[in-house]
Amino acid sequence: MEPVQVGLLGLGTVGGGTVNVLKRNAQEIARRAGRGIEITHAAARDINKKRICDTDGIQLTVDPFEVVSNPYVDIVVELIGGDSLALELVMQAIDNGKHVVTANKALIAKHGNEIFAAAQKKGVMVAFEAAVAGGIPIIKAIREGLSGNQIKWLAGIINGTGNFILTEMRDKGRDFADVLKEAQELGYAEADPTFDVEGIDAAHKLTILASIAFGIPLQFEKAYTEGITTITRDDVSYAEELGYRIKHLGVSRKTEKGIELRVHPTLIPERRLIANVDGVMNAVLVNGDAVGPTLYYGAGAGDEPTASAVVADVVDVVRALTSDPENRVPHLAFQADALSDTPILSMDDVETAYYLRMNASDKPGVLAEVTKVLGDHDISIEAIIQKEPEGEKKEASVIMLTHQVLEKNMNDAISKIESLDAIHDQVTRIRMETLSSD
Ligand code: HSE
Repeated sequence: MEPVQVGLLGLGTVGGGTVNVLKRNAQEIARRAGRGIEITHAAARDINKKRICDTDGIQLTVDPFEVVSNPYVDIVVELIGGDSLALELVMQAIDNGKHVVTANKALIAKHGNEIFAAAQKKGVMVAFEAAVAGGIPIIKAIREGLSGNQIKWLAGIINGTGNFILTEMRDKGRDFADVLKEAQELGYAEADPTFDVEGIDAAHKLTILASIAFGIPLQFEKAYTEGITTITRDDVSYAEELGYRIKHLGVSRKTEKGIELRVHPTLIPERRLIANVDGVMNAVLVNGDAVGPTLYYGAGAGDEPTASAVVADVVDVVRALTSDPENRVPHLAFQADALSDTPILSMDDVETAYYLRMNASDKPGVLAEVTKVLGDHDISIEAIIQKEPEGEKKEASVIMLTHQVLEKNMNDAISKIESLDAIHDQVTRIRMETLSSD
């Protein structure tokens, strides 16, 4: 049988990795797919640039539309990123009857509903394993491996750059900006690194995971995002003193009222395996009613780890080329006409425990004032530590852990605490998750 012809859009880090993996493992891959797979066409902005891969045998062009319109190309692999040109190219490829593989999380999180509807109409596949957690096959695990379960919640470290920054701050006391620069040099960070540190990249990925876990349409615009830029080295070490690690988590939980969809710094008990996922590594914890908690760990970025997921998707598409479009694995795990309208909860309705840190005048009665405000808002305190003023400073740091409370009540309490004369500056708050099996 003739090899399947693949057209690549983008020959950067992931594109180069994909060429290398497909060439190096060609024989094994053909034995798995049942046919040879060849990258025959590729589009890149600068076709003369020095690359990490050998492009011999690949017809290069600067015009990506040439690739999506080429009649010999069976599968288009989109690796250019962004969500405007990429959307145009993917829709054009679908319209031309091509199957699509993409690593583009922003594209799927923001436009996936429209892309999948068009693909379904045309009877083509759109595969996106590499869009979430790089090389970890988390989409396949949830969509296929856990399809007998009702998923209760999932929580993940799904941005390697953010995790690298928090790890280096904790282990080496390094500064935020310095670590971010290194992540950029290593090719982990997004083109706009605020996507990494403000939680937008993680929210793209979480949106996708929540849809396949709970069978809901993609709703990126309803995801709550909070970044890690306000986390200080003091917070990291106070959390450690209390037996916790701070991780930038994406959390999605199904509750009776709706589905939580939130990315924010989170204190998690240091004994949890996921609390020990360090550096640029990613991990996703998924709790199903039948299986219980399951943990998936691996490289979330980088040329060949991401290529591993891209190539697996290409193999899946090749295996399914002869199958009836109606009987393929649905894009979002649930049949397209069986998606539910369960609402995404607003943050006001989310319940979590909290870490609070405030700078207080070091005088009698201050703690009593603060605890009264918390009590008035039905907030119960689990632990308190006070750090004595250092040097000339006349203020103490007060750190509290609370039991679970409705976010709205905590917001009200924090604004009352901040209005007390004895409290200086803003109160730092970090949500806490036990990530226990219930
Ligand atoms: N910027 C992303 C990260 C790359 O750091 O995880 C992989 O999506």
